[in-house]
Amino acid sequence: MSHFRRKNATAAAESPVAWTFFRQWLKNPLSMAAFSPSGKQLARAMVSQLPPGARRIVELGGGTGVFTRALLDHGIRASDLLVVELNEPLHRLLQHRFPGVHVVRGDARRLTELAAGEHFLEEGPADAVVSGLGLLSMSRGMQRDILNAAFSVLAPHGRFIQFTYGPVSPVSRELLGELGLHARRGTMAWINVPPATVYTYTRSRSTAIPAQAAAPR
Ligand SMILES: C[S@@+](CC[C@H](N)C(=O)[O-])C[C@H]1O[C@@H](n2cnc3c(N)ncnc32)[C@H](O)[C@@H]1O
Repeated sequence: MSHFRRKNATAAAESPVAWTFFRQWLKNPLSMAAFSPSGKQLARAMVSQLPPGARRIVELGGGTGVFTRALLDHGIRASDLLVVELNEPLHRLLQHRFPGVHVVRGDARRLTELAAGEHFLEEGPADAVVSGLGLLSMSRGMQRDILNAAFSVLAPHGRFIQFTYGPVSPVSRELLGELGLHARRGTMAWINVPPATVYTYTRSRSTAIPAQAAAPR
């Protein structure tokens, strides 16, 4: 293990929440995609990409709740937040840490039915999906399923907000074209371990116009 990794593994062991995350990473590194939770700088960078006036938010891959905390601190009401987490111990931790938030255990690909099960969409679609998933390490098929599920719960103006440790968008140009999505590079969180860049994905104009035109005037 490099000095860099050893230092962060030690930091993880010192915090019970980060230690829970680290243990889950040891058991399932592919699904966890990172060995320690995101830092506060990255959480702030993710939240800064919310559309103006955003109220109803879905978070995918909540982990230990770093983004959940930032969303609540930003003023999102607990009852307006739905957090999806696949890992059982992390799901339990999130439920314990965030009473009042809709915390569900399940696969992000099944977001449409998970949201319906929580009656989350009864007050309208989501303004943003904030994703903590390791999208970069997922197959194109899995990315497609997750993005389709996310955009099925998003309002026409809604945004999918994602971070990546890679140098380019974790969603390829081909997949963006196929799904009618547009990517925009946001801020970089330099002091995150590892440094991460935020991307936002929206419906490209050609797919957003029919949805807006259909709305009653
Ligand atoms: C890179 S970690 C990020 C956790 C947290 N958001 C953060 O930034 O610290 C990815 C999280 O996504 C969860 N996850 C992985 N695949 C998932 C899926 N298909 N559906 C829901 N959650 C998933 C993992 O269990 C893990 O908690």
